[in-house]
Amino acid sequence: MLVLTNGRRAAAAMLGLHMPFLQRHVFVCTNERPADNPKGSCARCGGAAVRDALKAALAERGLNKQIRANNAGCLDQCAAGVAMVVYPEQVWYGHVTVEDIAEIVDKHLVGGEVVTRLLLAEQPHLNGPSLPRIEPRAPASAGPKPALVSLGRKPQ
Ligand code: FES
Repeated sequence: MLVLTNGRRAAAAMLGLHMPFLQRHVFVCTNERPADNPKGSCARCGGAAVRDALKAALAERGLNKQIRANNAGCLDQCAAGVAMVVYPEQVWYGHVTVEDIAEIVDKHLVGGEVVTRLLLAEQPHLNGPSLPRIEPRAPASAGPKPALVSLGRKPQ
């Protein structure tokens, strides 16, 4: 495991490197295949629009520095497009539409409660403790950074 010492942090800062501290990272499949491909693709189901709606919702709530939304290539859940996965808890959602984004953001990404109606099958790892809530950060000048509220897991 790589541990960043103060010296390494200073060196990274001097090089202008910035490592964001993300509390959740969401990968949205935007993979595109030809229209005649029998596997289909999340692009044909609206993957880019879902990604854009997620990014916009995070920005609107001031969460885009704590929660990152990124494109993903094929997540091997093509029949359930649009597919997405949320880390670090590895929660997989399928058949996600733009209309589902507010619920995913508010209930899961902020509230720490899985949106069960969109879950893909076979996720036994979700039977453990609750997921951590995320408190939106106050503006930089408004005071100390809020900490990740941990419900049964150690903050990272
Ligand atoms: S194309 Fe999206 S999961 Fe395969």
